[in-house]
Amino acid sequence: MRVYIFDTTLRDGEQSPGVSLNVKEKLQIARQLARLGVDVIEAGFPFVSPGDYEAVKIISREVKGVTVAGLARTNFNDIDQAWEALREAEQPRIHTFIATSLIHLQYKLRMTPEQVIEATIAAVKRAKSYTSDVEFSAEDASRSDLNFLCQVLEAAIAAGATVINVPDTVGYATPNEFAHFISEIRQRVKGIEKVILSVHCHNDLGLAVSNSLAAVMAGAQQVEGAINGIGERAGNAAIEEIVMALRTRRDVFQSETNVRTEEIYRTSRLVANLTGMNVQHNKAIVGKNAFAHESGIHQDGVIKEPTTYEIMRPEMVGVSHSDLVLGKHSGRHAFRLRLNELGYTLSPEELNTAFERFKNLADRKKGITDRDLEAIVEEELRLIPAKYNLAYLHISSGTTIIPTATIGLKIGEEACVGQASGRTGFQPVGLLEEAACGNGPVDAICKAIDKITGYSCTLLSWGINAVTEGKDAIGEVTLKITSEHNKKTYIGRGISTDVLEASARAYVNAINKLIWELGEGKLPKN
Ligand code: KIV
Ligand code: ZN
Repeated sequence: MRVYIFDTTLRDGEQSPGVSLNVKEKLQIARQLARLGVDVIEAGFPFVSPGDYEAVKIISREVKGVTVAGLARTNFNDIDQAWEALREAEQPRIHTFIATSLIHLQYKLRMTPEQVIEATIAAVKRAKSYTSDVEFSAEDASRSDLNFLCQVLEAAIAAGATVINVPDTVGYATPNEFAHFISEIRQRVKGIEKVILSVHCHNDLGLAVSNSLAAVMAGAQQVEGAINGIGERAGNAAIEEIVMALRTRRDVFQSETNVRTEEIYRTSRLVANLTGMNVQHNKAIVGKNAFAHESGIHQDGVIKEPTTYEIMRPEMVGVSHSDLVLGKHSGRHAFRLRLNELGYTLSPEELNTAFERFKNLADRKKGITDRDLEAIVEEELRLIPAKYNLAYLHISSGTTIIPTATIGLKIGEEACVGQASGRTGFQPVGLLEEAACGNGPVDAICKAIDKITGYSCTLLSWGINAVTEGKDAIGEVTLKITSEHNKKTYIGRGISTDVLEASARAYVNAINKLIWELGEGKLPKN
C-alpha cells in the first residue's frame, strides 16, 4: 500500500513556540521538502498573517512536482484567501477544518452540531469551486463523539472532499484506541473508500508516531507530520521516524512512501538551523547519537558486521560516515570536490568565502570533518543578503574586570546579484567599529554591535552546540533576539572554534535578518 506523506513543518511546525521563519527560509525548506519527496507541503495558513500568505504564494509559484496545501477555517474569507495564495500551484490543495468535539463546540466555537455540519458542507463546496483537491479535517476528532464525527465526515465527502483527515489534536489517543477509531471510521462513513483517509497526530504523550503507525495498520493512507517532530506544544509526528519505520519494517506495515530517505538528514539539519530548534542528541533517525556506538562490545560487533547493532545504515538517511577528510594542506580543488560529494554546489564567490573560512578553521583545528564542512557551508549560504559581516572582535573579560567588547563590522552597500546563486548581496564598502561594556562578554558584544547598527535588540535566548568532538571543536551558537522596532523575533546562527566569535556572528546574522525584513529604507542609521 502506498502511504502519502503530508508535511506540515511550515504550518503546524512553524506554530512551535518561539519559531518564526521568514519567506526566504520557508521557500528554502519547501524546496528541500520537494527534494525529499514528500507528497504534500502545507505551506501555511494564508488568512492568519500577511507573511503566511506571501509564503504560500511564493512556494506555490516556485516549488513544482508536489502538492501545495494552504490551511483555512470553514469561513469563506479564509477559503478565498487560501485560494488566492495557492492559485499558481501546479497541484493546489485547500485544507479546511472545523472542530468536532463537544468541548470545542461548547467553549470555543459556541456552535451546535447542526451548525458545524452546515459549515462543513458550505466550506468544502466553496473550496471545491476553486480546486478539485480539497482536504477536510475534523479538529479534535479523537475526542469527538464517534457518531457525530462520522456524520460530519460523511457530509464533507458528499460535499466533495477528496481527503478526510482525522487529527488527534491534543495528543490524547493511544495506539490501540486510535487504530480502532480509524477502523470504525472506515466501516461507518459512507463514501470513505472514495477518498484518502489521513491522520494527524500530536505528541503530548509522546505517542504521535506510534499513533500514526497504528492508524496506517488500520488503513490510513496519508500521514501528516513535521520534520524533527516540531509543532504546537510537544510537536507533531516526526516525518523522518514514520518514513523510516515504514521502510525498515516493511514486513510489518506492507507499505511504502515516495520519500528519498537519503535526503532526510539534510532536511532535518536545514529545519533545525532555520527554526533554531536543535535536535536532541538521542532523537531517533536524525539525532547526533542515532548511529553512534559507544560500548566496546557494540563497536566490535558493528565492525565485524553492521547488522549486529544497526537496523538501518546511516547512509540510508544521508548521514555521512567519513571521519577526518581535510586538513590545513588541502587545496581548493579537494575542498570543492568534497563539498560536491556532500551535495553542495557553490557559486565561485560562495566558494571563495567558504574556502577562506575553511583555511581559517584549519589553522585552529587539526582535522576537519564533514560536519565541520557542512557547518561552514550552511553559514556561508545565507539566504538573505548580509549588510553586516564580522571583521574582528576583541574581548577583555575576567572575574575582576568589566567585560568589554570592541567590534569591527564590514558594512556592505548596493545590492548585487551572485552569478551562480542568483541571490542578492552587498558589496563591502567600509569598516565600522565600536566598543561597549556589558554584564558579560556576550552582552558586551551585543551592545557594541547595536551601537554600530543603530538597532536596539534584546537577547531572548543563547545556546551552544559542539558540531564535532574535542577541545578544538566548532561551536555552533544559536540565539534569539527581539527588536524594539517591530517586536518580532529573529534567530541567528554563528560558528567558530571560539564561542564568543560564534556569538558575535550569530548576533550579526540575526540583525541582518531584521534589516532584510524591515527593508533598507527603514534603517535607523548607516
Ligand atoms: O492539530 C490539528 O487538529 C490541526 C488541524 C488544523 C489539522 O492542526
Ligand atoms: Zn495540528
